Amino acid sequence: MTFPTHRPRRLRRSEALRGFVRETHLSTTGLVYPLFVCPGTNVRQEVGSMPDVYQLSVDKAVEECREVADLGIPAVILFGLPERKDETGSEAASATGAVQRAIEAIRKSKINLLVITDVCLCEYTSHGHCGMIEGENVLNDPSLGLLANAALSHARAGADIVAPSDMMDGRVAAIRRKLDENKFQDVAILSYAAKYCSAFYGPFREAADSAPQFGDRRSYQMDPGNAREAVREVELDLEEGADMIMVKPALAYLDVIQRVRDRFDVPVAAYNVSGEYAMVKAAARNGWIDEKRVALEILTGIQRAGASIILTYHAKDAARWLKHC
Ligand code: PBG
Repeated sequence: MTFPTHRPRRLRRSEALRGFVRETHLSTTGLVYPLFVCPGTNVRQEVGSMPDVYQLSVDKAVEECREVADLGIPAVILFGLPERKDETGSEAASATGAVQRAIEAIRKSKINLLVITDVCLCEYTSHGHCGMIEGENVLNDPSLGLLANAALSHARAGADIVAPSDMMDGRVAAIRRKLDENKFQDVAILSYAAKYCSAFYGPFREAADSAPQFGDRRSYQMDPGNAREAVREVELDLEEGADMIMVKPALAYLDVIQRVRDRFDVPVAAYNVSGEYAMVKAAARNGWIDEKRVALEILTGIQRAGASIILTYHAKDAARWLKHC
């Protein structure tokens, strides 16, 4: 028996009914706001391709964190820009780097925020790749120690969670071991486990000045055609000791988020990346879409697919919008 007995529209008649039967309630509790921390003081430089996103010096980053916490957003993820780049990205592990100083300053200010750090070398290397290179090859094993040292420097500064985004094999194990050896057994690892080689990172590379100077990242980031391989990547990272895993980007990979959610009982994060943000901003600025509705619909979709943690440049906007919904 179907129509006229069954009428799905019955439950859509009023906002009260719609709210009553809604399956996914977007909230600020899983949002993470990304910040780009740069050297200097009093720097607040807007990123051309990412309206309302800034490169911030440590002092300004702390101000921003206060605003983020006041909006009820629980976490930030920090990306760093170095004073100087070199072949091995040595500033990634410097105790006086912008990220390390920012973490210390946030801790000192007693702002109630989880501090996550992106662990990678691409912002710090002169060649812009996420590991050490030999000729045109990105070397896996020699990069692991550098990444582990960067993670350790973040933990020493006071990070709660380190998030390796380099896609080298074995980096989660290397980081876990290094943290444990140094008594940071309580610092958690959020691994960018299924990170695809994506053109959606374009604007980020302007923000973090991290574009590869030759070639691309196809030899380490995943091929966009592969979903089963994502399951394998997640499995390996969990075996190596990841506490949480991430799928990135989000929008073109909702099936991957769902697959990973269904297969593993760990917190699943998704990164609503720079290109996804830039497209919404650009279309909204042209008057072609309603930014608020589109952004909230996108975030709802990512959560519905199975991500309980969402990294998004729309986090502050979303927190404001959700307050007034
Ligand atoms: C660093 C890193 C990237 C992003 C996060 N960490 C860029 C890349 O892999 O090239 C992208 C984030 C975004 O686009 O918002 N490896």
